[in-house]
Order: sequence, then C-alpha cells, then structure tokens
Amino acid sequence: MTAPIYPGSFDPVTLGHVDVIARAVAALGRLCVAVVANPSKTPLLPADERAALIRTEVDRVGVPDVEVVTFDGLLVDLCTDRGTTVVVKGLRDGADLAGEAAMARMNRAMTGLETLFLVSAPAHVHLSSSLVREVARLGGPVDHAVGPAVAAALAASPARTRTPGAGEARR
Ligand code: PNS
Repeated sequence: MTAPIYPGSFDPVTLGHVDVIARAVAALGRLCVAVVANPSKTPLLPADERAALIRTEVDRVGVPDVEVVTFDGLLVDLCTDRGTTVVVKGLRDGADLAGEAAMARMNRAMTGLETLFLVSAPAHVHLSSSLVREVARLGGPVDHAVGPAVAAALAASPARTRTPGAGEARR
C-alpha cells in the first residue's frame, strides 16, 4: 500500500501531531506527512522550516517509516499524484469534527479519497498550533506543548513580541 498521507499546516508541529504520527505508523505501517506550503492564513514559519521541524520531532521520538513533504494546491491532487487513497487526520473534539467531516466528504466526493480519523489522546486535547503560536509570541512557556527544537524555533521567531518576565519588570 502507498503510504497514507497526514496533511496539515503544522505551524508549528505540536506534541499532539507527533502522537498522531506515531499512532498512524503503528496502525498503518508507514506515513507521509504533507505540509501545506501556503495555508489560508499566512504562516508564522516557512514551509521548509515546518517540514524540517517535523523531521526533527519524528527522529527525536524514534518513529520509523515517515516521509515529510511539502505541497501546494489540492490535497486530492497530491494523493492522486502519489497513488494514495487514504489520508489520516487527528480529531480533538466536536468542533474539529464539524470542519474535518466537511473536508473529508468534499475530498471523497472529488476523487473517492478516504479519511481515517485518530482521536487525540486526553493529554493533547488542549493543544493547537494557533494557541502555541499565541503563547510563544507573548513570551509564555511552550515546552509542555512542543518538542525542544520547535520551542527554540518559536523563541527565535521575529514575530515574538515579549520576553519572559517582562510583566514583572514593571512592578
Ligand atoms: O492543519 P490544518 O490547517 O487544519 O490543515 C488543513 C489542510 C491543510 C489539511 C487543508 O486545508 C487542506 O487539505 N488544504 C489543501 C487544499 C485543499 O485540498 N483544499 C480543499 C479541502 S476539501
């Protein structure tokens, strides 16, 4: 079987994403993580850096048989090009389900692409890339939510507006 595809923005990859990657490989044998280069919102990190951080995280936790690619355009076109008929997504809650089910139905209507959902582990239900970006931008701790290399990349990001402890300094 051609490797199933796990698509996303991964801006940045979180421990929740890494858990889905590990569990998808355990269940399905191998995986291609596909980073959308130009998501609907302007990303914090460039596509190549997002992909490199996923590679670093996958190697850090020792998951084998994972390929990481970037793509533009429709997910169904990437899947057709690669001969893949299955995509994998993570689901945290009902809010995720509403949006994901709509995309899954649209993709299936276009080419018959099937979507398999993995339910997030309880420890990761609160994690989202957008919240991680927000906390990091304001100088808060993110080491509970992302791997060390991702935390370092966020700390080095020019989008960061505040250093830790800046609030205390005003007292
Ligand atoms: O991590 P995200 O941002 O929730 O991932 C969304 C993503 C990248 C999987 C979705 O936006 C996508 O598939 N984009 C590629 C363009 C596409 O195929 N759009 C139609 C979806 S039905």
